[in-house]
Amino acid sequence: MFKVNDNYLKLAGSYLFSTIGKKVAAYSAANPDKKLIRLGIGDVTLPLTDSVITALHKSVDEMAKKETFMGYTPDLGYEFLRSAIAREDFKTRGVDIAIDEIFISDGAKSDSGNIGDIFSVDNRVAVCDPVYTVYVDTNVMAGRTGNYNEKTGKYDNVIYMPCTKENNFAPEIPKETPDIIYLCFPNNPTGATITKDELQKWVDYANSVKAVIIYDAAYEAYISEDNVAHTIYECDGAKTCAIEIRSFSKNAGFTGTRLGYTVVPKELKSGDVSVNALWARRHGTKFNGAPYIIQRAGEAIYTEEGKKEVRSLVDYYMKNAKVIKEGLTKAGYSCSGGVNSPYIWLETPNNMTSWEFFDYLLEEKNVVGTPGSGFGPCGEGYFRLTSFGSYENTVEAVERIVK
Ligand SMILES: Cc1ncc(COP(=O)(O)O)c(C=O)c1O
Repeated sequence: MFKVNDNYLKLAGSYLFSTIGKKVAAYSAANPDKKLIRLGIGDVTLPLTDSVITALHKSVDEMAKKETFMGYTPDLGYEFLRSAIAREDFKTRGVDIAIDEIFISDGAKSDSGNIGDIFSVDNRVAVCDPVYTVYVDTNVMAGRTGNYNEKTGKYDNVIYMPCTKENNFAPEIPKETPDIIYLCFPNNPTGATITKDELQKWVDYANSVKAVIIYDAAYEAYISEDNVAHTIYECDGAKTCAIEIRSFSKNAGFTGTRLGYTVVPKELKSGDVSVNALWARRHGTKFNGAPYIIQRAGEAIYTEEGKKEVRSLVDYYMKNAKVIKEGLTKAGYSCSGGVNSPYIWLETPNNMTSWEFFDYLLEEKNVVGTPGSGFGPCGEGYFRLTSFGSYENTVEAVERIVK
């Protein structure tokens, strides 16, 4: 008889966004006249930019002709894209990343989930609490955790690093020593980030205990403060301890187009084993490449025009972030994030739980957000609003909430 991977049976509850979806659908069905404003899921709403669309059209036309048709893509991704990334995302920041350290993928979610394939099941994992749940769930699936503990809301054998108001939502070096440390800055869900000096401490720590940092920089484009690193490789010694994951979703609006990449430096080793070589092997075996036309679209964001367009997308969303943060702060809410991030993290008023506040906003204000407790026990009593809606809807949502 076949057996399933029973690690999957350890997974707790239903996925946060499907629970929200069900609640919203039930409310809409019962109240068809109400106009809901959705500031919940981290999906973008602005369309792809002109440079991207032009590159897509051009490459689609190439696919229509025998002379220019493209089949399977190279394992690591096309060189035209990898060299644009090395030049624009790293060289401009004073960081040398070789193109064979860059692996093109279909997005940061897949990479942050798949990267665990190359690490032993015996590794001890550390995550922030609250956390982008993919890091935890994929480790549960891999068997790297114990069971879910209903009482604590945590999985056994995982090191949770609390991110609370008291520590400015920045994790502290854990007391127990982890082997794999997931960090995400700017952070989803809290919108917090840490300075380059603070990040340097994590790099030094990881090198000292021989841990690997999986650094998710999906929101790098939102960094507005000078003392925040755009890539972990700005820190000395990061190449011997860190893997960095990037996405084209939040900067260029590729959430439905799908493109990302992961940097695995050649200096990163476990004993004598090159992690870069393992990831190359894994990538080549289990992944057949992001589509040519999408890689051409990705290349377009690195042109002068493309860079300006990305800036204007990010500026648009950051204007929304300002509206939310200033509006709610003025009304007495305690809010953080929204400076280097499209996410605003607010404390629920009157000791409401995160889900109570969700229901209140849905039913009384017709605004949909995300309950902080869905991201981990330390998210209880918090709520996430995103700035990915339209400006008009964002202004209206804030007016409704503060009324
Ligand atoms: C921290 C973080 N990493 C990765 C992703 C997923 O990115 P992608 O669309 O490239 O899969 C998200 C999406 O919300 C995210 O918040």
